[in-house]
Amino acid sequence: MPGIELFDQEEQKQVQEVMNTGILMRYGFNQARRGQWKAKEMEAAIAERTGAAHTLLLSSGTAALTTALAALGVGAGDEVIMPTFTFVATFESILAAGAVPVLADIDDTLCLDPQAADRAVTPRTKVIMPVHMCGAMARMEELQELCSRRGLFLLEDACQAFGASWRGRHLGAIGHVGCYSFDFNKLITCGEGGAVVTNSEDIYRRADMYHDHGHDHSDDDRGAEGHLSPGYNFRISELHAAVGCAQMTKLDRFLHIQRRNKKILRDALADLKGVTFRAMPDPDGDSATFLSFFLPAAPVAAAAAAALREAGVDGVFYWFANNWHYIRNWEHFQKRRFAHPQAPALLAAMPDYSKVSFARSDELMSRCLSLTIRLGWSEEEAGRRAEKIRQILTLVL
Ligand SMILES: Cc1ncc(COP(=O)(O)O)c(C=O)c1O
Repeated sequence: MPGIELFDQEEQKQVQEVMNTGILMRYGFNQARRGQWKAKEMEAAIAERTGAAHTLLLSSGTAALTTALAALGVGAGDEVIMPTFTFVATFESILAAGAVPVLADIDDTLCLDPQAADRAVTPRTKVIMPVHMCGAMARMEELQELCSRRGLFLLEDACQAFGASWRGRHLGAIGHVGCYSFDFNKLITCGEGGAVVTNSEDIYRRADMYHDHGHDHSDDDRGAEGHLSPGYNFRISELHAAVGCAQMTKLDRFLHIQRRNKKILRDALADLKGVTFRAMPDPDGDSATFLSFFLPAAPVAAAAAAALREAGVDGVFYWFANNWHYIRNWEHFQKRRFAHPQAPALLAAMPDYSKVSFARSDELMSRCLSLTIRLGWSEEEAGRRAEKIRQILTLVL
């Protein structure tokens, strides 16, 4: 990870094909584009890969989440349950919908704990939104059961998990709707990009319109199209989609390299006393973008992160201290410093997160480290790195 590590003439060729026509927009200009429809092409590749009946490519993963919530009809008064460990875009999209983010603990999968989510359900809950963190899956069986028992939508934030699966089903394509990110740091990248996938024609139609000002995409002439509801501009450009088209052809190769390199690292640490790996409901489906593990106590994890960085090991994440991925440091969220103040009703309905404690999440996250797995490493490089990390952890443990 990320896919930029193995850019080559394929990405250049795809981008050049768009430049040759000069049509950078994904809709219209049917004559001038001379058969180049990169966004459509990437959507078809995603549909084939995920098995989802409908795919919509958009400008980012954040746009995908915002659009998916709009397509589910989420709005003022609704609550969406999400985990404490995720990127800030998860709650940003809920706030953008005018809904209330309700946080619940994670479990040892590093994803939403189904039991904690169950406890957080109220009569206002509309959606359960697990996040498949660091390339692998939440406990999907339990989350599916919860949603069907309580009559809730299951929206998978699979922004970090394109390419990963659970029991042979692609993450993101299991719930009612799923979202991916193809931003600069992802395994498959467009530079900036995202996707919504769903098996529901209705959800797809609403997402399709919402992401493009309400256009119903019924005509070659955009000026003649209908608008059933207002929307926004979350369109992807053909240039970004072109990069993604090239990347999609490399996905199997990327997964193979990631899994090989991750195994080298994992094997090197497996017998270290005090190291336990993140739980995974289906290890074969891991996209292997990170190796995540727990150390015996918070001070050990902090010391290990510092020692690894000091020794020049890059891609070390101690999320507990990170400002973007764990609630502990989301000061702007806790203090409700929203750039566009939401309706007073929303603020009144939102729990005061500066006072809520998430003991279980803290206990897990304070002991957790993630190491980035890179596509660019040869087996020898991965082996040398694994040995170095093993030595450093042995000293700290
Ligand atoms: C879990 C999660 N959700 C949403 C996003 C937002 O994706 P984007 O950066 O494409 O807007 C990200 C991006 O890293 C993410 O990690």
